[in-house]
Amino acid sequence: MLKIGTLAVDPPLFLAPMAGLTDRHFRLIVRRIGGVGVVSMEFVSAQGIVAGERLAKQLMVFAPEERPLAIQIYGSDPATMAEAARMVEASGADLCDINLGCPANKVLKGCRGAALMGNLKLTEEILSRVRRAISIPLTVKFRLGLDERRRNFLELGRLCEANGIDAVTLHGRTARQMYGGQADWSQIARLKEEISIPVIGNGDVNQPQDALNMLATTGCDAVMIGRGATRNPWIFRQIAARLQTLDGHGAVNRERSPEPTLDERRRLILDHFRTVVDHEEAGTALHKLRLFTRWYSYGIPQGVLLRRRIQTLREAAEFSLAVEDHFSRLNLDVAA
Ligand SMILES: Cc1cc2nc3c(=O)[nH]c(=O)nc-3n(C[C@H](O)[C@H](O)[C@H](O)COP(=O)(O)O)c2cc1C
Repeated sequence: MLKIGTLAVDPPLFLAPMAGLTDRHFRLIVRRIGGVGVVSMEFVSAQGIVAGERLAKQLMVFAPEERPLAIQIYGSDPATMAEAARMVEASGADLCDINLGCPANKVLKGCRGAALMGNLKLTEEILSRVRRAISIPLTVKFRLGLDERRRNFLELGRLCEANGIDAVTLHGRTARQMYGGQADWSQIARLKEEISIPVIGNGDVNQPQDALNMLATTGCDAVMIGRGATRNPWIFRQIAARLQTLDGHGAVNRERSPEPTLDERRRLILDHFRTVVDHEEAGTALHKLRLFTRWYSYGIPQGVLLRRRIQTLREAAEFSLAVEDHFSRLNLDVAA
């Protein structure tokens, strides 16, 4: 069984941190469906945590049921990062993760996220300060480099290992690529050869079989899934069931089929929407409903029709009706 520091990760599958998406509602959905080893929180600003900002506090709320849970922090000041990591540990999170991969301009500014890949001296100071500050497992998530000419993920991997980091996640793209093109899994294999701490592979695992292929072709120790899970939150259960068939991995309930029915999909979306409406302010709720209907629509038949329809919606209640209506039509099609 995979161990990251003292944390047993079973099955070896991670829900990726995704800003705006892996909030507490979605993490609980994924955890309740099952098959996931660790769920990650969307990234939180170290400065925001230390300053006690409202947003940071809100983001860091989680339910015991979500655990094992990783909280990811980003920032560029070593002392602030170390203090934020201490607060992450005090919050009861199982794992602290450092973001060195975010390519968004507002994060790159001030040498945060992927920008730190361009300054390994500062990165090393952050890693060693944070490592000394906490005793829970510490991981680092990064990309291949800033761009094609500056691919330094091997050097960064070695730096992580030398500074007592317990595992690293590699997203097989450069920061310049953002989310375009194809993730280069061969580089995950390369990193695995280079270092002896666990390597978590990430990028373009969209179908259950992709995860098995990534494990087999790269030798990585675990797989992290982002967008594939927002289209299909059952993906972890589907992969875990396949892993279990292969070699007895994982703790999956054999009674439940890993494949969701159309009705389960419908209920999941409606339950999710109800939770969002009950717990979020009206403006945030509307934003989340729009965002998630879009992602979910990629995982259901004729999703394009649902996507078109939600563009015109202005009220939270209309989203549930649109989803109900979409599934009734699908059921009619199935019955026909
Ligand atoms: C909307 C969105 C938000 C993201 N936010 C974060 C983040 O907060 N921290 C992080 O390390 N990566 C973030 N990522 C990157 C993902 O964690 C992941 O590395 C990337 O999507 C590739 O994996 P995938 O192909 O399985 O989605 C984000 C990706 C998306 C699409």
